[in-house]
Amino acid sequence: MTTLQDQMKQAVALAAVDQISSGMVLGLGSGSTAALMIKELGARLKDGRLKDLVGVTTSFQGEVLAAELGIPLQALNAVDRIDLAIDGADEVDPGFQLIKGGGACHVQEKLVAVRAERFVVVVDASKVVQTLNLEFPLPVEVLPGAWRQVQAQLNSMGGEAQLRMAVKKAGPVVTDQGNLVLDVKFAGGINEPADLELAINNLPGVLENGLFINLADQVLVGEIIDGMPRV
Ligand code: 5RP
Repeated sequence: MTTLQDQMKQAVALAAVDQISSGMVLGLGSGSTAALMIKELGARLKDGRLKDLVGVTTSFQGEVLAAELGIPLQALNAVDRIDLAIDGADEVDPGFQLIKGGGACHVQEKLVAVRAERFVVVVDASKVVQTLNLEFPLPVEVLPGAWRQVQAQLNSMGGEAQLRMAVKKAGPVVTDQGNLVLDVKFAGGINEPADLELAINNLPGVLENGLFINLADQVLVGEIIDGMPRV
């Protein structure tokens, strides 16, 4: 059954694909909203509405999906530019600062977002917040051999950091890079996201955190208005 949230995600994914032109090098995000965008991109390539595109994926999952749809792919190291990147987010504040990494893909997602000429974020209305991290924990990717040490340091910075476990706690979630993820809640949320992004990335053993600061050029928000999905 399609939920209202699914309809919002679909609407916003279509609106983002409308910004794609033939010949572009595209950053392809991760997560369920980005997957809808990739599916629509695949459909438009198949029927000829778009052509000569190259995608740079941000996760193994996205790579498998894009390859199945016949989207030509290149590695980040192999492209000389990314014209447009489209990705979802877990939280967006009024200044377009983001928390990402709910799917543990934020290392590659940030590499692509930083590189892109234009970074468009696609979210449903539930992701829009006044203050980051009141609800959604901040993902921090850490080297496996350092997770306890980084956890202690995050806790001493006022956070409460938990190792992300796989469903049914079969073991820890392991990222595409072979690392672990700490999910961190700060009491009162994150009020200085730019400073915190740098402070966390400065801890030895941290690969990247999910704060995306001053990267989003546009945020497309899917809403339900009068029973209809709108962007
Ligand atoms: C993955 C991400 C996703 O973009 C984020 O979790 C949003 O996912 P969804 O569109 O499924 O809500 O950052 O690391």
